[in-house]
Amino acid sequence: MKQHLQHKIFHLIADSAEELGYPAYVIGGFVRDILLGRESKDVDIVSVGSGIKLAEAVAKKAGGLKVTVFKNFGTAMLRYQDMEIEFVGARKESYNRNSRKPIVEEGTLEDDQKRRDFTINALAIDLQKGSYGELLDPFGGIADLENKIIRTPLDPDITFSDDPLRMMRAIRFATQLQFRIEDETYNAISRNKERIKIISMERIRDELNKIVMAEKPSVGFKLLFNTGLLHLFFPEMVALHGVEVIDGKGHKDNFYHTLQVLDNICPNTDNVWLRWAAILHDIAKPATKRFDKNHGWTFHGHEDRGARMVPKIFNKLKLPLNEHMKYVKKLVLLHLRPIVLAQDIVTDSAVRRLLFEAGDDIDDLMTLCHADVTSKNEYKIKKYRRNFEIVQEKLKEVEEKDKVRNWQPPISGETIMNAFGIGPGREVGIIKNNIREAILDGDIPNEYKAAYQFMIEQGEQLGLKAVKPAK
Ligand code: CTP
Repeated sequence: MKQHLQHKIFHLIADSAEELGYPAYVIGGFVRDILLGRESKDVDIVSVGSGIKLAEAVAKKAGGLKVTVFKNFGTAMLRYQDMEIEFVGARKESYNRNSRKPIVEEGTLEDDQKRRDFTINALAIDLQKGSYGELLDPFGGIADLENKIIRTPLDPDITFSDDPLRMMRAIRFATQLQFRIEDETYNAISRNKERIKIISMERIRDELNKIVMAEKPSVGFKLLFNTGLLHLFFPEMVALHGVEVIDGKGHKDNFYHTLQVLDNICPNTDNVWLRWAAILHDIAKPATKRFDKNHGWTFHGHEDRGARMVPKIFNKLKLPLNEHMKYVKKLVLLHLRPIVLAQDIVTDSAVRRLLFEAGDDIDDLMTLCHADVTSKNEYKIKKYRRNFEIVQEKLKEVEEKDKVRNWQPPISGETIMNAFGIGPGREVGIIKNNIREAILDGDIPNEYKAAYQFMIEQGEQLGLKAVKPAK
């Protein structure tokens, strides 16, 4: 382990701890990540004595660094070069930096280790002079790392009741690291799931987003579903689960379909919002599901209804209600369009319209649509792919020719009002709309002169008289 503690900061901490007369250890995620061969910049230090005093001593030794003290939690933080180092005194009580109640009772290193979340996060490295670099592993964390197992150091009922967010963390680590949650630990999640209700949605959301950003997020969502946690904070997604059969006809299970789409999109994007669009693209299928003898199962309007559900879901999950939400909403609304296009003869006007509506998000929309093809039928997949390529080419062609992406029609409301000598009103909107439609449909070219002429005709049809001749 010594070779991983070359950084000057570890020597500064070791020297400071020695001067204060109590031991200090590196603990938690940093140690785990060394053993996983991952580099981490976040270091947690636990000392058997005041963590705040140790942080202050280190800061002084390093030439006067700023220390941020969290008195209530008994922790202190400082930055050294690109590292962020957090100090805490070993404690008997649960290690929970988010708890409101101050944690005071001092303990030994082992007391502290056993109050941590998982065996793989309870590993410590000694920073004391004689034993510098020695690994301390009282709960079999190394074996669990080797066997790829998530397990709590104590009875999982105790570990999870200390901090119920750890149930989410178990699933998050299992997803990120592709580890298995050991049976006892797993069963305890199902048993204690209701306790997640005392955790703030912001903390749940942060773990959820880490699952969404994993290489294969479906693993995490299946675990959330199977343990029953998902039901408690994201019932709209749970509603996608299941297949109904009428007259021998079933529809596909939209929960597993959604997860497949999500996994499909991951190699093509690290944009968390595009991944969210994949999660939500069919969210209104349960609400729009119908069966009739002629058409079988239909989900008419699920894209529109789904788009309208996006702000509510974002609000509930404490996701941002800003342009990211609008982006997800737009992709959910438009997610069927390229598929519909690909099934028909691809006309310039349909492509122009799609480009106009999607604007700069057209490429992301196409990425979503590609991921949405989850048929098991090879022939169908090939057909879709070929049609998508045609759409993609057409998109390029039309964009080069007409430049409708982020386009504004050439005639403004003001021009219309001046031309007819009228004030703002219904007519202005109608004319403006008709001009836009005519250009998108390809009835008139995307030019000022043609649009002006068209505007005059439209106005006259509404009984208006031009006060300015066509320019
Ligand atoms: N910890 C815990 N219970 C929690 C949160 C954290 O026991 N609910 C302990 C674990 O020992 C963990 C350490 O605090 O390793 C640091 O927590 P954190 O920085 O949140 O996570 P990491 O394990 O470092 O992992 P990551 O950086 O991937 O979040």
